[in-house]
Amino acid sequence: VAAVRLSAFAEGLRPESAFDVLAVAKRFKADGKDVVELQIGDSPFPTTEHGRQAGISAINEGRTNYCPSRGLPEFREAVADHMNRLYSLDLTGENIVVGHGAKIFEQFFCEVFLEPGDEVLVFSPRFPTYAPNIERRGAVPVYTSLKQENEFRPSIPDVEAFVARGPKARAIFLNSPHNPTGGVATAEDIRAICNLIRGKNVALFSDEPYNHMAWEGSHYTPLSEPEMLEQCVAAYTFSKSYSMSGWRLGYAVCSSRIAEVIGHMLNTSLSCIPPYAQLAGAAALKQDSEERDRNMNAFRGKVELLADALQTIEELSVSRPHGTFYVFPNVARICNRLGITSHGLAMYLLEAADDRFGVACLGGECFGEDGAGFIRFSCAEPDERLREAVDFLPKAFERQDRVSRYLKDHPEYVLSERYPTSSE
Ligand SMILES: Cc1ncc(COP(=O)(O)O)c(C=O)c1O
Repeated sequence: VAAVRLSAFAEGLRPESAFDVLAVAKRFKADGKDVVELQIGDSPFPTTEHGRQAGISAINEGRTNYCPSRGLPEFREAVADHMNRLYSLDLTGENIVVGHGAKIFEQFFCEVFLEPGDEVLVFSPRFPTYAPNIERRGAVPVYTSLKQENEFRPSIPDVEAFVARGPKARAIFLNSPHNPTGGVATAEDIRAICNLIRGKNVALFSDEPYNHMAWEGSHYTPLSEPEMLEQCVAAYTFSKSYSMSGWRLGYAVCSSRIAEVIGHMLNTSLSCIPPYAQLAGAAALKQDSEERDRNMNAFRGKVELLADALQTIEELSVSRPHGTFYVFPNVARICNRLGITSHGLAMYLLEAADDRFGVACLGGECFGEDGAGFIRFSCAEPDERLREAVDFLPKAFERQDRVSRYLKDHPEYVLSERYPTSSE
């Protein structure tokens, strides 16, 4: 055993399961298995045209050296213009800070506002990296459930109860449209949350990677609410809307005071974000909105196709998501009958339900205990492949012998306590 000890934080760190399942799916594919990949929230489309071309030109023009930590002025101004147009805001480049995607702002937000022992309200199921970033600061996530019967919308009384806990209650993580459930908080929900925290020492992290993917109603950002710029950090990404997940580009919108501090955090960690990626992003914002909207419409068609097809499977309960490119069916009855956990069921569909064909997806518990009994499918495959995946499911759910064999090899997926269902 090495003498050097790892920190308790390092020992306890759990990575995002989507990337683990991605690796398993790729391994099966390399071995010749036909796998429909619905495990990770990525786009099947190429990076939008003007973004791609601007990135290539920027590299050719030598925009490949260090640049300002907070972001190129032309990037920050392009973002401010874009946000002002979208949400009728009054931002300048001073309100914008660049990041490599949206995820990094979870960490920076926590570093800006939290002290050890502080409490953070997190709606659950939740994005898997929220807790590690809260815990990185020695702060404590406080979970509250998003319920299927409430269309996975945030419960306002739970927010009220959290704020009433006193001075330790320091922050709220909000994500709408919501990964993994596809729920969308209404303008009234968001207004109510803002009214509960306005002027108090409670900061809001508004994680909005799916702001162009609201299918029911329209996307509403807390930035539209009075004074919220002073106590909110809203995070956006080019990953989903402009199919740029591998470019690693996003931004946060907040007060100039907070943006400056986040700039210091970038300076002391990443130094800067590649200038050619920022120039690609600025061009995408200015010139690719039509292509973006076409892609968003295609996503909408895909989630509707998938949700409607899943609705024909008995024992499974699902509605069309109100936003995002995820479908989140309740599979509790199937799990109870087969005696398998929902992530066990997901892994069985990939690994063991058939020798030649598999479906990669995630059990809801990858998003916390509140997700147990659900499965998350993302829609990043052609429509025909989505149909093939859904056709396969009922057959897979009937292969009791294969499930039993799989559980013998993977006792960790044996369901110890039945999931609650509305009909039991
Ligand atoms: C809720 C949520 N937050 C953050 C991210 C991370 O986005 P990015 O790849 O832009 O860092 C994702 C991506 O799946 C997400 O679903």
